[in-house]
Amino acid sequence: MSASKISVAKKAMSHIKNKLTNNMVLGIGTGSTVNYFIDELVDYKNYFYGAVSSSEATSKLLIENSIQVFNLNDVNEIMFYIDGADEVSDEQFLIKGGGGAHTREKIVASAANEFICIVDKSKLVAELGDFPLPVEVIPESRSLVSRKLLAMGGIPKYRENFITDQGNQIIDIHSLKITNPVDLEKNINSIAGVVDNGIFAVNKPDVVLVSD
Ligand code: A5P
Repeated sequence: MSASKISVAKKAMSHIKNKLTNNMVLGIGTGSTVNYFIDELVDYKNYFYGAVSSSEATSKLLIENSIQVFNLNDVNEIMFYIDGADEVSDEQFLIKGGGGAHTREKIVASAANEFICIVDKSKLVAELGDFPLPVEVIPESRSLVSRKLLAMGGIPKYRENFITDQGNQIIDIHSLKITNPVDLEKNINSIAGVVDNGIFAVNKPDVVLVSD
């Protein structure tokens, strides 16, 4: 598994390395595949300006590797956003948030000129939904949101002992049929108390790189 993740991390580096400029800011996702990408990025740290990170874990890793981390509010342009996924459908829609970082990931992805998703082959699916769909909620709304998700046909499970970087909680929806990812992403996000869900369909990746 790690060999596949390393191989796709190298592919992503090949995809961007000749396009780097010394004033360029990159967006960096979260997860084990991205951690391998950061390993690759270290060799090129003098060829770009810095990064906007999607999580505290990624920020820590970037700083440890002497890559400057910027707040999104202080950055005008993100050229590339590189991130993994938990599922990728034939139409290149994603489920993300296995690590609970999907809210900030979606924000940084939407700010980027090019969203590059990097996955090993095991993440490819015909239709999204086998991987439980993460939903970040304001803690006070958890039971209310769970009941609404149940009414939508899923089985909501509270992710115990987990708090997001924003101080919220996660509900993972099991056994949800995701036939129309764009509508479902919007519908779940319209429930009061939901911060964001892990479907990336309204803004899907521009490029999906898969391990050999
Ligand atoms: C983090 O919340 C997720 O969206 C990750 O991007 C996703 O879980 C992929 O992680 P791995 O690269 O560790 O499989």
